[in-house]
Amino acid sequence: MAKDVAAKKTAANDAAIEASRGHFSSKIGFIMAAAGSAVGLGNIWGFPTKVAENGGAAFLLIYLLMVFVLAFPMLVAELAIGRYGQGNPIASLRSVWQGKRWAPLLWGGLAMLVASLILSFYSIVAGWLIAFAAEPVFSGLGLMEQAGWLTEFSTARNASMAVIFSLLTIWVVSQGVADGIEKWSTRLMPLLFVLFAGMIVYMMTLDGASQGLTTYLVPDFSQVDARLLVDAMGQAFFSLSLGVGAMMVYGSYLKKDVNLPKVATQVAIIDTSVAFAAGLLVIPAMFVAKHNGVEIFNDAGDLISSGDLVFQVLPALFDTMGASGPFIAVIFFVLMMIAALTSSISLLEVPVSCAQDELGMARKTSSWVIGLAIIVISLVICLNFGTLFGLVVDFTTVYMQPALGIIWALVVGWVWHRNELLHELQQGNPELAQGWFWKIWPWYVRFVCPVAIAAVIFVSVS
Ligand code: PFF
Repeated sequence: MAKDVAAKKTAANDAAIEASRGHFSSKIGFIMAAAGSAVGLGNIWGFPTKVAENGGAAFLLIYLLMVFVLAFPMLVAELAIGRYGQGNPIASLRSVWQGKRWAPLLWGGLAMLVASLILSFYSIVAGWLIAFAAEPVFSGLGLMEQAGWLTEFSTARNASMAVIFSLLTIWVVSQGVADGIEKWSTRLMPLLFVLFAGMIVYMMTLDGASQGLTTYLVPDFSQVDARLLVDAMGQAFFSLSLGVGAMMVYGSYLKKDVNLPKVATQVAIIDTSVAFAAGLLVIPAMFVAKHNGVEIFNDAGDLISSGDLVFQVLPALFDTMGASGPFIAVIFFVLMMIAALTSSISLLEVPVSCAQDELGMARKTSSWVIGLAIIVISLVICLNFGTLFGLVVDFTTVYMQPALGIIWALVVGWVWHRNELLHELQQGNPELAQGWFWKIWPWYVRFVCPVAIAAVIFVSVS
């Protein structure tokens, strides 16, 4: 009887929470939105670039290991914190960390800052996508000078495109969760997958592709060093949108009857498949481009420029496609831009949800105020690209995302009461306590994750 009353109370409470904050209206909507956050520049730009810099298949293997051994358990942890707390990351941490005022504010606030910094460089790279999507249109109209400006690296190009992309992000976030995020993700992600598959099949028919395939799939373990380990770990955290509270926010918009480990597995599989496919496209495309005379490597065999590698080899690939090339290029870059947008909105959602709940600001106001502040940081990076860009990327993604992961692992493993954690996960999976996941995961997050993440960071800096 008492149990019934309690259950009714919880259900009523959940309904009230759902009514007040907006939830993903369907499970597939959530998976698509979380996968939308995960799939983005990290997959198509970050991952292939890191593979190329680190000599190919060895990176791929260590990356896969990092995703399943470290990032996936942390994805479950972040989603669980968010869904339990049903609030912005600071509020969610506060519910787990009962009675503590400063710790949630400090760590949630740090996550918010790192999310904002990531967004400031993310918009610059996403801006390049806009430029490359527009270039074939300008060329087609005979506006060659403008087309050249769009694809040539310059501060003015970088800054203006970053501002356009940021404004798009702010606009979508200001519209709110169900209307903005879910609609975009569910409709367009599948289209991107199909296009990818088609391009990979086409590319395999070109000269040079097989050499790229070997580089991508046959490992050379002499390449494995501390830098590769920390790069692979950072890339896994970046790709799964971990550390900075984005998955906590998405978890908080998730209904209680959803099985968290299961949706986390689905999101991790989708994200990793897209990264793998992007590697399958970009690495062979590098060798096709080389075969066609594009300079990719210097005499010592090192990549000439790694940051915009993807933006050199993919247009070179489209050039081989004859009359259809410009059309495919536009579709590809537009879809990529949308994939980047579904990631950037999850980044902006972190500080915006904090400002909305903690400071009582309206969603529209907080989206614009915070978004504009991040644009200012983007502009500072654009003006000092050579010194700041790589630094901000490395600091936030290689070090801060995994380091914040240590904090969340400690919170879930040591602060959160085990019964409450079990109850949270059981709501979407009543048999959880009997299965293998519950036998391993809590201990794993408690001991293995923090120690392993700290060890990788330590080896790489020492
Ligand atoms: N996962 C995104 C990508 O691979 O492009 C980047 C990202 C989004 C990182 C959201 C962190 C985040 F919170």
